[in-house]
Amino acid sequence: MRIARVGTTAIPAQPAGIDRRDPRAKSRHLDVCLHEPVDYAKSAGFDAWDFVNDAMSEVSLEHVDLSTTLVGRTMRAPLMIAPMTGGTPEGLAFNRRLAAAAQHFGLAMGVGSQRVALERSELASHFRVRDLAPDIPLFANFGAGQLARGWGADEARRAVAMIGADAIYIHFNAVQEAIQGGDRDFRDIASRLTALCRSLEGDGVPVFAREVGFGMSGDAARRLRACGVAGVDCAGAGGTSWAKVEAFCATTPQRRALGLAFGEWGTPTATCIVDIRRTLPDVTLVATGGLRSGIDLAKAIALGADVGAMARPMLKKAHEGDAALHAFIESVMAELRVCMFGAGAANLDGLRGTLTAVGAGSSARAS
Ligand SMILES: Cc1cc2nc3c(=O)[nH]c(=O)nc-3n(C[C@H](O)[C@H](O)[C@H](O)COP(=O)(O)O)c2cc1C
Repeated sequence: MRIARVGTTAIPAQPAGIDRRDPRAKSRHLDVCLHEPVDYAKSAGFDAWDFVNDAMSEVSLEHVDLSTTLVGRTMRAPLMIAPMTGGTPEGLAFNRRLAAAAQHFGLAMGVGSQRVALERSELASHFRVRDLAPDIPLFANFGAGQLARGWGADEARRAVAMIGADAIYIHFNAVQEAIQGGDRDFRDIASRLTALCRSLEGDGVPVFAREVGFGMSGDAARRLRACGVAGVDCAGAGGTSWAKVEAFCATTPQRRALGLAFGEWGTPTATCIVDIRRTLPDVTLVATGGLRSGIDLAKAIALGADVGAMARPMLKKAHEGDAALHAFIESVMAELRVCMFGAGAANLDGLRGTLTAVGAGSSARAS
């Protein structure tokens, strides 16, 4: 049996062949994401862009300003720990390590789907992180599949209250659901999302819509915005392939084959950012999916994202321990800072438009 280790806690991995509503399904996702080759073969698209080096940068490296705000809270850098886990002892251990790091570095964070704890209230304590991260923008989470099947403001309020969240993510994952044999009927999702956004607006809780890693077009973001979401996370292709993850989790050869067939499905993250920003110049845009370094993060911001997020890189470092996680976040921030210095950007706004398409020369800049 494979053993997952969070710091000094040894945790037996769960066998395949379990009910997706069972919290052990999330343990299986953790195990697969830590140990199996679930990356896309295709890139997230950041390698198609280069920064234009500013030969006369008039910026002080020390004074480069990485700060921004999200859902009313200040962040010391535009980096989020993307939603992944919770609801089990090992999920809690990961989340608490990640939350402590988010607080230390002034980052944002989302917890993984709270569905299990909304269905089984005794699991709610396995999502508790606010005590370790009192100041960070913190996002609650459940799926559009649940919304389509009748969940609404009541469940969203319970999810937010459970963790003391500032906002809630509703995750959209149609292809993942199709592969795992989960929720397959999203009719009427627009009216349900609209009702949810209206109800939570009265509470002052922003609703964000996110993909899980297959990408979001400008048109989809426009339709989500029309429902009243305050922001979107485009979570594009090029990092963790959720079709491949589900192939490894599959309990039948047919589901495994389906997962592998869709292993490369999705729109690269860089393409999503450009398309959404062109369609919705003012929407709050988080970009997840295949960001693996501070240079990727800088490119995501330069293309139009407000905040970049990472899932599996954070998970892997958290698995190694606090020191590895902190060293990784420090390196991401150092790389972002040097990108800004080299591009002549004193703050995040200054980064916009400092990219050029690879091979296009310095005159063809991203707007
Ligand atoms: C172990 C694991 C579990 C995840 N669970 C959730 C989830 O419950 N809800 C959600 O919205 N996204 C979930 N995600 C998706 C990530 O937030 C992210 O969108 C995706 O992994 C792409 O980012 P990456 O390439 O940096 O891994 C999960 C990711 C990982 C690695």
